[in-house]
Amino acid sequence: MNSIIITGANTGIGFQCALKMAKLAPNEQIILACRNEQLGKDAVASIGKKTGHQYMKCLPLDLASLKSINEFTQIFSKEKHHQISTLVNNAGIQNVAETQYTEDGFELTFGVNHLGSFALTLLLLPFMNHNARITFVSSGTHDPSQKTGVPDAEHTHAKLLAYPEDTTEKALPVGQKRYATSKLCNIMTVYQLQKHLSGTNIHVNAFAPGLVPGTGLARNYPPFYKFISNYIFKVMIRFNPKMNSAKTSGENLANLAYSSDFERYNGKYFEGKKPIKSSEDSYNVSFQEDLWETSLELTGIEFSLPTNQTG
Ligand SMILES: NC(=O)c1ccc[n+]([C@@H]2O[C@H](COP(=O)([O-])OP(=O)(O)OC[C@H]3O[C@@H](n4cnc5c(N)ncnc54)[C@H](OP(=O)(O)O)[C@@H]3O)[C@@H](O)[C@H]2O)c1
Repeated sequence: MNSIIITGANTGIGFQCALKMAKLAPNEQIILACRNEQLGKDAVASIGKKTGHQYMKCLPLDLASLKSINEFTQIFSKEKHHQISTLVNNAGIQNVAETQYTEDGFELTFGVNHLGSFALTLLLLPFMNHNARITFVSSGTHDPSQKTGVPDAEHTHAKLLAYPEDTTEKALPVGQKRYATSKLCNIMTVYQLQKHLSGTNIHVNAFAPGLVPGTGLARNYPPFYKFISNYIFKVMIRFNPKMNSAKTSGENLANLAYSSDFERYNGKYFEGKKPIKSSEDSYNVSFQEDLWETSLELTGIEFSLPTNQTG
């Protein structure tokens, strides 16, 4: 039996993705990798009740801690079903309050959204099937040309993203910019990972869910913004093609990550069900290489091809 791992699957888009995955893959083990184990177990019970899936469990994972990511990998390596068919890097945050840091001292949004998912993916590579699929959840906010209303993503040096200099700007726009930039990092990681995995059959893609109001992502926004997101935007979903419910986005994500309709794609950026071009900056190879090399250095992880993958 293979395993499917979905991070941040206790709520929002990740939960809906896991629910759809349980229907698509009744005979694979599905692991919900969640930082709050109880919420993860509740999600397992809820999905089990709805779908009858027999092989679902929660394992604890905090992407704001390299120790936790290492422990997750250790625990997973001892699983009976430790061959991965599918990894969905869905977990993410948007911190628009004062600057916070991960356990390892990285700025929180970059640390969780980029470095955490990067480290997890590289540590899990040895357990990937020969034709495994990896999907990173990014966002349209990474692309200034999409005019999402969020300040433009900006890749400077990856070290400055991990250890930002003091700024006099307000927390909200700084937090949004860091978020958009972390989502640019997700796409650049996909492009670099695909390059490093050429010669294998492992496929890696990025996914943008559209604007999905009412999830936990806006949890530390000021009350006025939360009200708009939870009530006004939710009503607008019906009229705005760039907005989706968590259910629609989660289903699109599960399909992209697992269904055979998408298995031929590699190194692509999807908006919902469609492969589209990502931002101009995302194709900048010197940005990509800076991010890749710096991320290896900051996480202390060495990239190595799994031995059963070459050829
Ligand atoms: N909502 C949108 O409009 C939108 C648009 C574009 C892209 N996205 C992306 O979609 C993904 C899912 O977001 P969502 O909207 O569903 O938000 P959400 O409801 O807040 O779900 C985020 C998930 O990530 C988990 N998470 C946060 N920090 C973590 C950490 N340190 N370690 C492990 N897990 C952590 C959360 O766990 P807890 O429940 O314990 O906090 C939760 O399970 C994110 O990558 C987000 O950037 C969302």
